[in-house]
Amino acid sequence: MQMYDLIYKKRNGRELTREEINYFIQGYTAGTIPDYQVSALLMAIYFKGMTGRETADLTMAMVNSGEVINLEQIPGIKVDKHSTGGVGDKTTLVLAPLVASAGVPVAKMSGRGLGHTGGTIDKLESIPGFNVNLQPEDFIRQVKDIGIALMAQTGIITPADKKLYALRDVTATVDSIPLIASSVTSKKIASGADAILLDVKCGSGAFMKTRQDAASLAQAMVAIGKLVNRRMVAVVTEMGQPLGRAVGNALEVKEALTTLVGEGPGDLRELCLTLGSHMLVLGGVSRDTAGARARLKDLLNQGKALQKFKQLIEAQGGNASVIDSPEKLPAARYQSSVAAPEGGYVADIDTMQVGRAAMLLGAGRASKDDLIDHAAGLVLTKKTGDFVKKGEELAVLHTNRKDALDAITKLTASAFTITVNSPEKAQLIWETIE
Ligand code: URA
Repeated sequence: MQMYDLIYKKRNGRELTREEINYFIQGYTAGTIPDYQVSALLMAIYFKGMTGRETADLTMAMVNSGEVINLEQIPGIKVDKHSTGGVGDKTTLVLAPLVASAGVPVAKMSGRGLGHTGGTIDKLESIPGFNVNLQPEDFIRQVKDIGIALMAQTGIITPADKKLYALRDVTATVDSIPLIASSVTSKKIASGADAILLDVKCGSGAFMKTRQDAASLAQAMVAIGKLVNRRMVAVVTEMGQPLGRAVGNALEVKEALTTLVGEGPGDLRELCLTLGSHMLVLGGVSRDTAGARARLKDLLNQGKALQKFKQLIEAQGGNASVIDSPEKLPAARYQSSVAAPEGGYVADIDTMQVGRAAMLLGAGRASKDDLIDHAAGLVLTKKTGDFVKKGEELAVLHTNRKDALDAITKLTASAFTITVNSPEKAQLIWETIE
């Protein structure tokens, strides 16, 4: 088999066979096929697309490029959840202990943040002492003991995806639906999940800017699940403004804690109840989503979800007293208010820009090896639909870097579009695809 022939075939819009896909993934992982040929193939895929069968074969080829975590020792249906990413998305911090408290085993690997989006692992690391680097055997033992463990993704799964993603990043081939769908689902399958819930975001803070593109990605992923025998459900949700009010690691942990006691921002709570109810059904502990939702509300109100979060923190060496004393979480030296330049209704928030402001305050990484400041970030005082008077507070910035505060204040204020007329109510959940 020759790589040239695969490039030629795909360039002409023809379908690659499973053997051809395995050949290119194995060769690229082993270093026997060079970047320039893989780049050409990726560009051909970008323009010509892939069938559902090709996308599923690409997914499994990437799964088999590394180790597959075996969770069979853990009784029950293991349900994983994946978000395509956004700003202020602290859902896992609430959802993981919530569904674990309902009896669904949570054995979850998560990633770190990059650019304007945050990552669950960075958020967890803002809890003093929390260890995200578990050995696979300790990870499994902990899920068997307390029903939940969260760890950083290891380098042993899907090495092909790691190499391909880095290449896509520099060859303008990231935003291809079959490439994104196979990249996301391969990591989840290799992490050992039996069933996967996908939170596919759309809007200004998401990868997919439109609802249609998000739905196409969701459909592509659910179709992969059908072809490789993994139950997958995708929910298309809005990321046209940050989720909740807090953006930044310790600030988001604080917001998650309030949500775990049944309070917290309405959108975050609603998203957790919607996603969580699908997870309970996928995990076989509830018959339908209505029953699951009622059960999740009870678990929040009875403090069971918070108790599970406490157990998780203790098991992973963290200081669980942050639950009762959130002031023990890292806090920034400087806080600064962002004032509205004019009065009116908040019609839109440029979510990417808010994420960028949080990153510049110290909460995120401009490049992979940057250090982050767990205390930094911002809290939105106003969200879409709120009325604001001229000079009233739109957000509060938290930082240990005073130097760039004026510029970041301007950047944050300009993320808000303020209009005379009140905008339409923002919708949070768009559709479910299964
Ligand atoms: N996230 C992934 O894991 N892969 C992609 O291709 C895009 C987003």
